[in-house]
Amino acid sequence: MNKTENQMLIIFGASGDLTARKLIPAIFNLYKDGQLPKNYVILGVSRSDLSDVEFRKKVVVESPYLKDELEKEADSFIKTFTDKLFYEDLGKDYDTDYIQLAKRISDLNTSHQTEHNHIFYLSTPPNLYEVVAKNLHDQGLSKEVKGWKRLIVEKPFGYSLETAKNLNNALHRYFEESQIYRIDHYLGKETVQNLLVTRFANSIFEPLWNRNYIHHVEITNAETVGVEKRGGYYDKSGALRDMFQSHLLQIVALVVMEPPIGADADEIRNEKVKALKSLRIMRDSKTLRKNTIRAQYMASVIDGKKIRGYREEPDVDPKSITETYAAIKFFVDNWRWADVPFYVRTAKRMPTKVTEIVIHFTSPHHQIFKDSEMANKDNKLIIRIQPDEGILIKFGVKVPGQGFKVERANLDFYYSSLVENHVMEAYERLLLDAMQGDATLYARADEVEAAWAFVDPILDYWKNGKGVKMYGYSAGVWGPQNEDDLMEGHGMWRNPGENLADDPGFCVLS
Ligand code: BG6
Repeated sequence: MNKTENQMLIIFGASGDLTARKLIPAIFNLYKDGQLPKNYVILGVSRSDLSDVEFRKKVVVESPYLKDELEKEADSFIKTFTDKLFYEDLGKDYDTDYIQLAKRISDLNTSHQTEHNHIFYLSTPPNLYEVVAKNLHDQGLSKEVKGWKRLIVEKPFGYSLETAKNLNNALHRYFEESQIYRIDHYLGKETVQNLLVTRFANSIFEPLWNRNYIHHVEITNAETVGVEKRGGYYDKSGALRDMFQSHLLQIVALVVMEPPIGADADEIRNEKVKALKSLRIMRDSKTLRKNTIRAQYMASVIDGKKIRGYREEPDVDPKSITETYAAIKFFVDNWRWADVPFYVRTAKRMPTKVTEIVIHFTSPHHQIFKDSEMANKDNKLIIRIQPDEGILIKFGVKVPGQGFKVERANLDFYYSSLVENHVMEAYERLLLDAMQGDATLYARADEVEAAWAFVDPILDYWKNGKGVKMYGYSAGVWGPQNEDDLMEGHGMWRNPGENLADDPGFCVLS
C-alpha cells in the first residue's frame, strides 16, 4: 500500500456546495477507513464570514450529506474528525494578498506537524483558478522547498481549446505540471478503471480488440435528471462541454488506447494522449452535419408528474440553443481502429440513469446457420459503468431441439458479487491518490488539450454553422426521433434498461 504522508488540505471555495456534498464526506470516509495520516488538517478558505466552529457545523455536524453517516458513529469519534477542520475568511475577494492565509497555514503546519505538505483544492468557479494560483505563488506557497505542494482543479477545465491552453499556460507560470491534478470524477469510478484491467489483464479480449473483429463501438451516458439548479452554468456549457469533452472522451481514450508499457501514471497517460490525438477531427460542415446531432428536452409528463422543458428551467434563456443531448459519430485514425465507427451520446432527462460501453463484434465471416438470423445476434461485450455495474457478453447458443436454431445468451458478471469491503466513492479514491502523489487517474494538460481539439470544431459548427438543427425530445424518452439516423446501416442505439441484462425495449409497465 502507498504511504500517505502527514499533510494539510486547503480547500478554496469551502463554503460552496461541492465541499459539503462531496469533499468532506469523502474525507470523512477516508478517516473512517483509517486512511488519513496521523497528522492531518483541513483548512477551508472562502469569502464567507465563518469561524472554525461554524465551518465544522456547516460541513460536518449539521451537514445533510453526512447525517446518516454521523448517526452511526460515537460523538468522540466525530469530534476527533471535526477537530481537524479549520476555516479562514479571505474577505471580499479571492484576488487579495494571501499574507494572512500564508500565516494561518504556517501556524497550523507548526501546531499540527503537517510537514509543509500541502494540497490546494480549487473548488471555486474556474475563472478564479489563475488568480488563486498566482496569489499562492506570490506568497511562496507553491514552492517545494520544504515539503511538497499540489494543486487540484475541478472541471470545467477551459471552455474551448484556446481557453484550456491559456489556463494551462497560466497555471504553469505558478506550478509545475507534476504538481497539478485535474480531477475528472469518472476516472475515480471503479468500473472505469476496470476497463484497463479488462483489456490488459486478460488475454481473451485484447486479441479481438481491433478493426478485424470489432464492427462498431457505442457509448451511452444517460441521466434522468434535468439541469436541476445549475441552469445558469449549464446554459453556457451544454452536454458536449459538460460531459463529452471530459468524462466521455476519457472513457473513449481507455477503450482506444494501446497497451502501456507499465502502470505508471505517465505510461498510461502517454497512451491516452496518443489515443485522443488519433480521433479524426471533423472540420468541414458536410461531415459535421452528417455525424453530429444535438437536441434539447421538452416539457412532458412522467409518472403523472409535469416535467419542465429545458427552456423553462430557472436561469436558462427561454430562447436557448444549448444542447442537453449530444450524439457524435467519429472515427479513429490509427492502425488498430481504421474504419471502425464510434458512436457516443450523452443526455439529460432520459428514461433511466445509465452509462455503458457496447463493443459490437463483427459477424462470423462464413455463415453456417443461415436460417437463424445470425446478423441480429452478433456478439456484444457490454461494459456497464453505472448502475448495476458489471460486464455482459452476448453470444449465440443452440436452441434445444431439431435443426440449428441459434439464440443469444448472456454471460454476465456483476461487481456486487465481489464487493465485501467498502468500495471507495470516486472522490474518495481520487483524493487519496492525490494525497499519495499518484496522478494516474488525473488528466494531464496535453490530454485535456487533445480532447478540446476534437470538440472545438463541433462546438463551432453548432454555434456558427448554417442551418444547424436543434432537435427536441420529450423529457423521459431516448432522445430525438432521428437519433438512429446517425447509425447508418448499424441498426439502432442499444437503449439500455435499469439492469445490465435488460434488452433494448425493456420497460416496466407498473
Ligand atoms: C458532472 C456534470 O461532471 O457529472 C453533471 O457536470 C452530471 O452535469 C454529472 O450530472 C454526472 O456524474 P455521475 O457520476 O452522476 O454520472
